[in-house]
Amino acid sequence: MADFSGFYKLTVDERLRRVKEAAKLTDDEARALMDSGALRLEVADKIVENVIGVMHIPFGIGTNFVINGKETIIPMAVEEPSVIAGACRAAKGTLPEGFKADADEPIMIGQIQLTGMDNVEQAMKNLELNRKMIMHAASDYMKPHERYGCGVRGFESKRLETDRGTMLVVDFHICVGDAQGANMINTTLEGVAPTVAQLTGGKIRLRIVSNLAVKRRARASAVWKKEVIGEDTIEGVLDAYEFAKADVYRCTTHNKGIMNGIDAVVMATGNDWRSVEAGAHAYAALGGYHPLTKYYKNEKGDLIGSIELPLAVATVGPAVNTSPTAKIALKIMGVKTSRELAMVMACVGLANNFAAMSALSTEGIQKGHMKLHARNIAMYSGASTPEEAEKVADIIANEKNFNPEYAKEVLKRLRTGGKK
Ligand code: MEV
Repeated sequence: MADFSGFYKLTVDERLRRVKEAAKLTDDEARALMDSGALRLEVADKIVENVIGVMHIPFGIGTNFVINGKETIIPMAVEEPSVIAGACRAAKGTLPEGFKADADEPIMIGQIQLTGMDNVEQAMKNLELNRKMIMHAASDYMKPHERYGCGVRGFESKRLETDRGTMLVVDFHICVGDAQGANMINTTLEGVAPTVAQLTGGKIRLRIVSNLAVKRRARASAVWKKEVIGEDTIEGVLDAYEFAKADVYRCTTHNKGIMNGIDAVVMATGNDWRSVEAGAHAYAALGGYHPLTKYYKNEKGDLIGSIELPLAVATVGPAVNTSPTAKIALKIMGVKTSRELAMVMACVGLANNFAAMSALSTEGIQKGHMKLHARNIAMYSGASTPEEAEKVADIIANEKNFNPEYAKEVLKRLRTGGKK
């Protein structure tokens, strides 16, 4: 296992050198990570409309993750202090075994909405009678992706009673391989919709992927041993978990803490965090809003944690390709397939949830959090070196005064050797 002990105490250069060595990054790749302007304006201008600049976000490393027996270095892009530290701390507590994870075949749902039919039952029967032909027509649009194992796996139709009358919706199940899938699904739906409309006599309305990717779930689990984390922490996490199960206000924050870690990996790998967020929370709401993680104590008194959620994420495709750092992030992680990536994300989500609950139910999170927050304020208030920021942060954190104006005063005092 690469040595990441004390990683957080190293300088940025030194950390990058370690990751470069461990992930065998090229000089160009290392330079791209160091370059906070790595996304060139000309490229940004081709990605979205009305571009006037680019936005930057810190890119850090989650250490101590062993996933299915393999050490995995986790790139995390996030602006919130404590998220990366929490993931590293939680993962450390699972060693040497680490996390077990698995993920489903990447099958997504794409929907066609049809309106205005006089006889919806007959329309549904017609779809059934012509199943082969519809599958064939839809599959034509997936031809370019077949060599990657993608394809239409099936479809089902359903009747919806709405305020604007009865509607018919056809859900296609499509394997999208290592892509996120929205583009290939939407193209297929738009292509096959006229066939479906002809068979049903309905008017075509929406043809769009569903972000509730229930068929594309990832799972992870880990054991935190009693001897490693202590009985009080185990009891604290179990109490916190029951709180989340019993109260939707707490459950929302519980799941937000999970998404802190997952979103950071989603961002680092250039994936669509809006779709992942939408899918995760909708999934949590199925059957009543519930925590995305589960915890229990085994017969030895150790804590077992697990997570399951839909993760429609890609290791190929436009978003991953245009981001200069996303490809490097995948290389650092050593993942090739969308399933492997989803597994990593599930582990990080579980780790961040454990980190939040173990801290919240024992010493609280504010001490560590405010120290990091103080460093942010110190930098923002004009500290020009990390050492200077550290000194200002220590003072404002000790005095519990996080007003940026006060931080400026402290900085001035330090620079003038205490003289006003
Ligand atoms: C903060 O971003 C996330 C937490 O609120 C999560 C939680 O409460 O479980 C700390």
